[in-house]
Amino acid sequence: MFEKTEPSTARESADSIHGWPTQITLAPLESSRGENPGSFERDGYVVARQVFDRASLNICRTYVLMLRAKNSFRQEKEKFGFNDCYADTLMESILIHLQPTMEQITGLSLLPTYSFLRIYETGAVLTRHRDRHACEISSSLTIGFEASEPWALWLVSHQQSRSITLREGDMLVYKGRELPHWRERFDGTYWIQAFFHYVDANGPLASYKFDGRPGLGLLHKPAGSRP
Ligand SMILES: [Fe+2]
Repeated sequence: MFEKTEPSTARESADSIHGWPTQITLAPLESSRGENPGSFERDGYVVARQVFDRASLNICRTYVLMLRAKNSFRQEKEKFGFNDCYADTLMESILIHLQPTMEQITGLSLLPTYSFLRIYETGAVLTRHRDRHACEISSSLTIGFEASEPWALWLVSHQQSRSITLREGDMLVYKGRELPHWRERFDGTYWIQAFFHYVDANGPLASYKFDGRPGLGLLHKPAGSRP
C-alpha cells in the first residue's frame, strides 16, 4: 500500500529552510488489525497503522516527556488538560519527511503548513469541531500514552459517527476542515498526539503553505493557534 518514493517534495521543503539537502525518509509499513481503515477519497479519512517504527516512537516519546519536564508546553487556560506546542523543531522535521507518505495516501501533491504537538492529561475533553483552512489535509499520530485502554477519536463521515482507535505509531489521515471530530473525556494519565498539516498544492488553499511563515520550523504562531 505504501511504497517508498523519491522524497523530492520533502527535500525541496527542507532546502527552502536550510539550504541543505536531506535524504532521510520514513519507512511506513502496511498493517491491519482487521478494522475498517476507511478510504481517504470515499470517506474523507483513512487510518494508517504502524507508520513509525518502535525505535523512532520511543525517541519521540522520550523527547516529548522531556519537553514537558522543561515546561515547554503552553497550557490552555480555557481547556483543562491540554498542553500544546506549535511548530516544535522535531515535529516540523517530521512534517517534512512525512510528506511523501501523505502524498501517497491521499493521491495529492501537498504543501506543508504546520505541525502541532499536544499532551492531553486526565480529564481532557476535545470538543466537537472542524479545523481551520491550513488543516485541509491532516494527519494525527499517536506517539505514546499512559492509559488502561486506547482513547477513541470520533469523527463524522457520511452523516455517521465513527470511532477511531489509534495506538502508538498509528496515524489518522483526514480532511480536518470537512469532517467534524472530537474526543470524549480522557481518563488515563497522559496521551501524546502529534498533528501534521498540509494543503493541496493544486487547490484553492495552496497559499496557506507554511501557515503564513517564512519557512518551516522558524517562527511560532501567536497564542491561540490550534489544530
Ligand atoms: Fe481538530
